[in-house]
Parts: sequence; structure tokens; C-alpha cells
Amino acid sequence: MKTIREFVTSDMIRVGPDDSVWSAVERMRRGNKTSVLVVEGEVPAGIFTERDLFSKIDFSRPVELAREPVRRYVTAAIISIPASATHFEAITLMKAHGFRHLPVTEDGAIIGILSLRNLLYFYTGALEVLLDESLESLASAIGKKDPYTAGHQGRVAEIASAIAVEMGFTPFQVKGIHMAALVHDIGKLYVPTEILSKPGRLAAVEFALIKEHAQAGFDILKGIEFQAPIARITQQHHERLDGTGYPQGLRGEAILPEARIIAVADVWEAITSHRPYRASLGVPMAVAELKKHSGTQFDPRVVEALLRIHEKIA
Ligand SMILES: [Fe+2]
Repeated sequence: MKTIREFVTSDMIRVGPDDSVWSAVERMRRGNKTSVLVVEGEVPAGIFTERDLFSKIDFSRPVELAREPVRRYVTAAIISIPASATHFEAITLMKAHGFRHLPVTEDGAIIGILSLRNLLYFYTGALEVLLDESLESLASAIGKKDPYTAGHQGRVAEIASAIAVEMGFTPFQVKGIHMAALVHDIGKLYVPTEILSKPGRLAAVEFALIKEHAQAGFDILKGIEFQAPIARITQQHHERLDGTGYPQGLRGEAILPEARIIAVADVWEAITSHRPYRASLGVPMAVAELKKHSGTQFDPRVVEALLRIHEKIA
């Protein structure tokens, strides 16, 4: 069982009940701390954060504050929690008393402070990891059927994220693009293996089946709520700026920016990587292909961003 020990911080100063409010605030500022713990010996008598103090204190009266003992601001008997307590015990205790901070003890001595905010950060972080892992295992499902596509999705995710960073997307948006790219071909689970791995040209009916994967991907992902519209991005990654793409024939701005980025990364990866039935067609060919279709098939801003990245690393 995980204990709260890892979240104990020393982000506090200790004061006695008779110390003045003014000296407490001064020491907090000098020490760059955000909390004041009032203790009598090792017994906690009160706790204040910077925010609590500033909302209660009238700083226009420095002379009075220099005389005023912090004891006046101690309204409730404070409780402490042992470092061996679990996260759940700490959150339960904080909720029961309405505290956002608790002093933490070990062997009868106060060793630091625990904040509800730090505990919650941990949980949101854990949820994010859980979501990433679920998505990665979903992405790897296609590998059982078509190992090439699994590797392709991973590489497209790296290229698409690099483009998004180059274009100035926020870290939050970049993460969403990475996640969507990781599963953008998941709908190929519905395409017969013989067609997926068939070398050379496909018959019209076979190509029609391949095209189904964009809509199938949307159907697989639509029930899951992600930080980015991953199902929609997946659905739109074969749309083209001029409306000749599939499955909806969307045009220009009607296509999600994330999908426009993945479309470019997708083609770059497909041309530059080795396929089971042929060697890489090479970077010059990928550059020529992107330039040729920039503005018709691809968003020119995305193409320019990828070419800038390529120039930097070449
Ligand atoms: Fe695709």
C-alpha cells in the first residue's frame, strides 16, 4: 500500500503561537515557503497558507501586525497524520475536517506538510498514464494482424508531434495529436489481411475496402472520451484540402487541424519507410510528393513545417 510519505514537503516555516504575524510573513517570504505551521513543541496548533494569511491580514497596519501573535489566527485545533498513512486515509481525513493541508508526523515529531493539491496532482497523473497505456495496447492490437501498420502508427505519431511542435501547438494539443496518430489506422482491423499485405496495385473493390478503415476507426474510438477528438481525427486523416478525400469529402478548414497534420506525416512515413515488399522510396521523393500536392491534398502550412524540420535535421 502506498503511503503519503513521498508527498511530504518542507514547504513551510514553523512558528510558535506567540510569534508575531509580521515575523511569520517575513520569514515565509524570505524562505520562499507557502505555509506557516504553528507549533507548540511538537504539537501542531494551526496551519496557514500564504493565501489564507493574505486574505485575513490587513497589511496597512504593520505596527499592529508586528505585535499581533499568530495565535489569534488559530481558530481550530489542528490534527496531524502519520507519514505511514495511505493516500485514502489522508484524503478522508482532509475531507472530514475541511483541511487542505496537514502536518505529517513520524516518531512523534513533525517532519513536514501534506497538501491536498499535491495528492490530487498524483491522481490526475496516474489517470493520464492509465489512458496512455490503454491507447497503446489498443494501438498494438493491429500489430497482431498487420505488424507493418503497428510500426507505421508509432512513427507517424513521432512525425506528427514534431510537426505540431514546429507549428506552435500547445503541449496539451501535441499530446492529443500523438495519441490520435498512434491509433489512426486502427480501423484496418476490419480490413481482410490479404488486402492489407498485398503488394502492388489494388483492384477497385479492394481499395474500397481499405478506404473503410477511416470510418471503422471512428466507430471503434467514438465511445471513448479523450482529451482530443481522437475518433474524429482518425476519421478525417484521409480527407484532402480540395475535398477529394474520404470518407466525407470534407474541404479545407472543415478538416480538423490535427487530421491535416496526420495526413502529411502519414504520407511522409509511407514513402520514406521500408515496406515488406519494397525498399524506402527515399526522402527526395517524399519531399517532391508533399510539394506537388501542397494546397490541393495537403495543408501548405503543415507541409512547410515538415520541410523546415527536415532541413534542420538533414
Ligand atoms: Fe490510414
